[in-house]
Amino acid sequence: MKLSIYQRRLLIYLVALGFSCFPAFGQKKTINQRVDSLLKLMTIEEKVGQLNQYSGREVTGPVTSRQTYLLNDIKAGRVGSMLNVHGVKDTREIQAVALQSRLKIPLLFSMDVIHGYKTVFPIPLAEAASWDLEAIRTSAHIAAKEAAAVGLHWTFAPMVDVGRDARWGRLMEGAGEDTYLGSLIARARVLGFQGEKLGGTDAVMACAKHFAGYGAAIAGRDYNAVDMSNQLLWEAYLPPFKAAADAGVATFMNSFNTLNGIPATGNSYLQRDILKGKWGYKGFVVSDWGSIGEMVPWGYAKDEKDAAFKAIIAGSDMDMEAEAYKKNLATLVKEKKVDIKLIDDAVRRILYKKFELGLFDDPYRFSNAGREQKVLNDPQHKLVARDVAQKSIVLLKNEKQVLPLSGAVKTIALIGPLGKSKRDLEGSWIPLSDTSLVTSVYEGLRSKINPSSQIIHAKGCDITDNGQAGFAEAIAAAKQADVVVMALGESYDMSGEAKSRTDIHLPGKQEELFEAVQATGKPVVVVLMAGRPLIFPKITEKASAIVYAWWLGAEAGNALANVLTGEYNPAGKLPISFPRSVGQIPISYSMYNTGRPVKNPKDIKYKSAYIDSPNSPQYGFGFGLSYTTFSYSNPKISKTTIRSTESAELSFTISNTGNVAGEEVAQLYIQDEIASVARPLKELKDFIKVALKPGESKEIHFNINREKLAFYNSILQWTAEPGNFKLMVGASSDDIKFIQKLELK
Ligand code: BGC
Repeated sequence: MKLSIYQRRLLIYLVALGFSCFPAFGQKKTINQRVDSLLKLMTIEEKVGQLNQYSGREVTGPVTSRQTYLLNDIKAGRVGSMLNVHGVKDTREIQAVALQSRLKIPLLFSMDVIHGYKTVFPIPLAEAASWDLEAIRTSAHIAAKEAAAVGLHWTFAPMVDVGRDARWGRLMEGAGEDTYLGSLIARARVLGFQGEKLGGTDAVMACAKHFAGYGAAIAGRDYNAVDMSNQLLWEAYLPPFKAAADAGVATFMNSFNTLNGIPATGNSYLQRDILKGKWGYKGFVVSDWGSIGEMVPWGYAKDEKDAAFKAIIAGSDMDMEAEAYKKNLATLVKEKKVDIKLIDDAVRRILYKKFELGLFDDPYRFSNAGREQKVLNDPQHKLVARDVAQKSIVLLKNEKQVLPLSGAVKTIALIGPLGKSKRDLEGSWIPLSDTSLVTSVYEGLRSKINPSSQIIHAKGCDITDNGQAGFAEAIAAAKQADVVVMALGESYDMSGEAKSRTDIHLPGKQEELFEAVQATGKPVVVVLMAGRPLIFPKITEKASAIVYAWWLGAEAGNALANVLTGEYNPAGKLPISFPRSVGQIPISYSMYNTGRPVKNPKDIKYKSAYIDSPNSPQYGFGFGLSYTTFSYSNPKISKTTIRSTESAELSFTISNTGNVAGEEVAQLYIQDEIASVARPLKELKDFIKVALKPGESKEIHFNINREKLAFYNSILQWTAEPGNFKLMVGASSDDIKFIQKLELK
């Protein structure tokens, strides 16, 4: 029987209707079968529509021409996903528009939930300082729970870019400089966001970004080119992405940078060969904001159509906000320049996720007003935020045990622009800033110390002030106090996207304020809050104590008060080296020996050195003090020689030799001493965080196997070469407690 066009259309319509009206329809089929059936119904325009993502701040606001344009596109099935539409009311409203489209394919709602939705957690760089994977997973899980309760299906996190350049503002979003730690954190955050399995209403899709190399933008300038060897790419920059993929991350985002001349968005090597090829990745890749179109100014595509062509060929599945796909892909297919199979593959990947999330069964399942109310007001979330905030704090200096503050302190002077600030403590990338939920340092301390003790507050200066008008008041406050706590740092908009800086000294007159206050002779505890490592030489030299608190989020004040009073013993360790000067950047502990190493700092002539600075950072990767002390003893290795199929066990004892309970992060670094490719002096390969009561000891074991000894050789094979290895265990990268040797046969 031959059907007329009209009859055929009717049939398609009825099948499509079946999908939406009868949720049970097709449920016995596998997701792949359901995707295939749907794909068969789709026109080329509808397919391309699924690859199009708009930002929707305007869609729910007053009627503008952009709003009309977006809504018409959604109704016509020309949109696969929206970002920045959130909240049950708004997501329901916009989903209802998508369901008016011919095939009623639900939208994916996405947003940058980077460190919390309503409950603001510490910035990711801060959380990395906890070296506590369970705390990091939990923080991501609560962020996901809140996001999934406001209609969101997808967060653009975690950022897993390795970063070794403190000028780069986006360091705050990542896990710091180290590949191994960064990979474990990538995994923890993906598992936290995505929960047990996609489809739970307490989980959202995660997105490993920015693929790849973005953290190595030349000169730390955001959006800049990246030039790196394949070896460094594979060894240092790709593993956290691989870890995210292995953890089941639902999506990837590519990046704004070029990698060795080719924009990441148009980079087939990254997206087709590595990600979808070698790694067999089945999720989808979203472009970064407008990055398809940006291949034109990069000088890599001649116009938007060429950019769309290059991006789809290279494996970018969804176009965020460039509209390059929407306007050009169907034509490119009709002109036979792009094979429809490529479009089908991209659409299939996206539809698969929509099915997996359960959106075809209930497009509103994440938009439930009752759950929104309940989850966003769960008092537990605040406690989790406080817990991870205190775990993120790093104690850099504590002379004469000035910390914790003694209970006998009668008067504290709280000085500095961040003493009463709230917004700055949240940091950047906040979906909903509600400073009424933030505890300032002042409030935190006030609620924690003895009610009869006094806190005198003086701002001293603003963060970027040039003048010293407030200094006199600050000095007067210090003079009346037993101890001074200074709250200094960056404002929330000084680190983050597009916030690269050439000067990363503590901004404005804050160090001068510190010197003026310190000159009173009072003990000065400096609390530094920032989105990146800062440089603060005067404070380093003269402060009695230094607490690095990053941007700790809503519970910053309470977490800091717990640390300052000793209710919580700090155990954070730096996830990134702190340079002495900008001239040392990029800096990482995993540096090379060179052919001319400095053996004696007094003899640096013709050595790989600076004539005006040591090579070492001010504070090394992995560094952080405690209110107690730890000793490392009794190192042993089970075998001094192993074959590549065997492993050895390195063991030692850690003891708490101080008077209070505390936690220590023992770190294992390895160096292959002679290899076919020169190896860094140290690479982190394992660590353990142990809690010890005063006087308590624990035996620690690190398993050493081939995986920990391997590296990428000159033809990019992951290989462990026979020879001698140095196994170093330390309290930080620059505080190695003992070295054992191991030979690989
Ligand atoms: C950033 C991404 C972010 C996207 C959407 C871009 O400018 O680079 O990390 O996810 O905007 O907000």
